[in-house]
Amino acid sequence: MTSLINVAPSILAADLNHLGDDLDRVSNAEMIHVDVMDGHFVPNLSFGTPVVAAVKQATRALVDVHMMVTNPDETVDWYIDAGADLISVHYEAAHDLHGIIDHLHERGVLAGVVINPDTPVSVLAGVIEDVDLVLVMSVYPGFGGQHFIEETYGRLRELVKLCDKHDAYPLIQVDGGVSLSNARQLGACGANVLVAGSAVFNAHDPAMIVRELRDLATIGLTGREE
Ligand code: DX5
Ligand code: ZN
Repeated sequence: MTSLINVAPSILAADLNHLGDDLDRVSNAEMIHVDVMDGHFVPNLSFGTPVVAAVKQATRALVDVHMMVTNPDETVDWYIDAGADLISVHYEAAHDLHGIIDHLHERGVLAGVVINPDTPVSVLAGVIEDVDLVLVMSVYPGFGGQHFIEETYGRLRELVKLCDKHDAYPLIQVDGGVSLSNARQLGACGANVLVAGSAVFNAHDPAMIVRELRDLATIGLTGREE
């Protein structure tokens, strides 16, 4: 049976000297999350197109690119060409969000929109019907290993209400500080794609953490043990 919850290990926490091995260790994940940071939109620099292409070659999972850049309008094509299956752009950075979403769809790629912790959920009203995924940041983007912001639970619930109101059902992804201690509640609040970096790759058995994150969020979602 297809799982109701997807898990997306973030390679920001992987061992880059052994990226292929680390991807093999999470072969039970539905997505691989690749953080693209430009040193402007966030105070850190990370991966570009060569890493996206390498991930695409090394995994059968969906390649999920999270673009933390100031100019997504001009650069999404680079990542489509490199093999991204899903591209999420920040609401705060996009100049023509609808134009980007249409373009991603025209090119056969799933489209996501991301909001930072201090961006109101209500800004999504105008775009919720057009995207495949909404990513609610549960830390200020830029670094792995940060503490989960508790207000995220309420923001997820608000997003679910907004989706219901618009009769729109994008995937709801959460990113930052996700771990076994909050996965259940995240599922209960409506998140169905969990991004996790350090919780997965710092573990002895990353595949087990992927499975446990999925199981806990599924229990939260369905309100019962599987
Ligand atoms: C943060 C990134 C996250 C990061 C999550 O800006 O967008 O994807 O890798 O890392 P953890 O799970 O360690 O908080
Ligand atoms: Zn991310």
